[in-house]
Amino acid sequence: MTSVLERGTEQADGRLGAVLRAVGRPQPVALGRHGPWVVTTLEHARSVLTDPGAFDFPVDVSRRSLPRGQERDRDAGFVPLPRARTAVAADVLVDELRAAVRSGAGAEHDAMRLLRRPVARATAAAVLDGVADPERDAVADAVLAWIDALAPVIAAVRPPSRWSRVRRHEDAARTRLESLLRALDDPEPARTATMLAAGTQVPIAAGAWLLVALAERPALQQRLGTGDLEPSSVVWEVLRLAPPTWVTARVARRAVVLGGERVPEGGVVLVSPLLLGRLAELVPAHEQESGDTRGAFAPDRWQDPHARPGAWLPFGAGPHACPGRSVGLAQLVALITWAGGVHLELAAPVRLDQSRGIFPRPARLAVTARDEVEG
Ligand code: HEM
Repeated sequence: MTSVLERGTEQADGRLGAVLRAVGRPQPVALGRHGPWVVTTLEHARSVLTDPGAFDFPVDVSRRSLPRGQERDRDAGFVPLPRARTAVAADVLVDELRAAVRSGAGAEHDAMRLLRRPVARATAAAVLDGVADPERDAVADAVLAWIDALAPVIAAVRPPSRWSRVRRHEDAARTRLESLLRALDDPEPARTATMLAAGTQVPIAAGAWLLVALAERPALQQRLGTGDLEPSSVVWEVLRLAPPTWVTARVARRAVVLGGERVPEGGVVLVSPLLLGRLAELVPAHEQESGDTRGAFAPDRWQDPHARPGAWLPFGAGPHACPGRSVGLAQLVALITWAGGVHLELAAPVRLDQSRGIFPRPARLAVTARDEVEG
């Protein structure tokens, strides 16, 4: 069977295909006459992401342009969530998934739909310390409503105008979420809302890729079951071949020269964890890979204690690096724990959707309890 995880991105068209064709080039590649430019080395990626004096991040999570002088780099950054919150998120995720699939053997589930509520509640539990379950669940549903309302805003070629229907709908959903947070005495409801939305949509997509990877490979499910393979190795390999935030953009504050390429003031520079994850210098070769290709799904490459998972920046870097990294990783490892109790099979071919980061759609899975498969 063709693995969507291995070949789905390689055969992609549009900007994703163009970015992957830049793999192996020594200097930034212009994707059009006036950019954007995609950087092709870790060194250039780091200099773009970690130098807010030279590169701006001038839109907020809902694609509203921020006036000059109020760019996000001047905000106080998000404080990384404490490690203690990771266990809470992992427990809630597993409990919610068990409850979601309790209904019947062999039931079919779409991976993205199956994960929505469990991830939203798990992230809300990690972010909202000390909030009772009913309030947490109400917040999680409001986050999902905001994310849904944001989808057409993000997919639109140009950010929609203030008075458009999609923008007004999105505004209403965000306002409702913020008022729920205000009622919980949150001193910064807008920032918490952003944290919750960023911490829900991306792990849902990462988790859906993870479930697809397991469903495509019965042998992998078996190896995880026997303890022959570390769950974290599988998580990193999924985040390498299908990082949901496969590209992020910055704008040059002034003309800069990157690896000999001149980027003018206002030029858009792209950093792609998907591209960086294909670089031979960052990713150890698996025994069956020859030369510089790193397209195979081979979690064993991360079993080597000298390997450096995450070198391709799936959580970003610099002032906008992901503050939920440890919570996100814990959720994905917990998903493998839950998957250890079920048998997953693809019920239909999976395709790559590029409308919002990258995620699998459709991704129909047949989920059966293990004892029913083995008994
Ligand atoms: C597998 C899970 C996750 C992945 C792969 C991921 C990935 C990323 C990446 C690549 C960025 C940087 C974007 C950029 O530079 O443009 C980012 C930012 C962010 N992430 Fe995550 N993330 C995950 C989970 C989470 C979780 C669980 C939370 C919160 C609980 C979270 C909250 C955020 C926030 C608030 C930002 C924006 C930071 C800023 O702009 O200063 N993420 N994430």
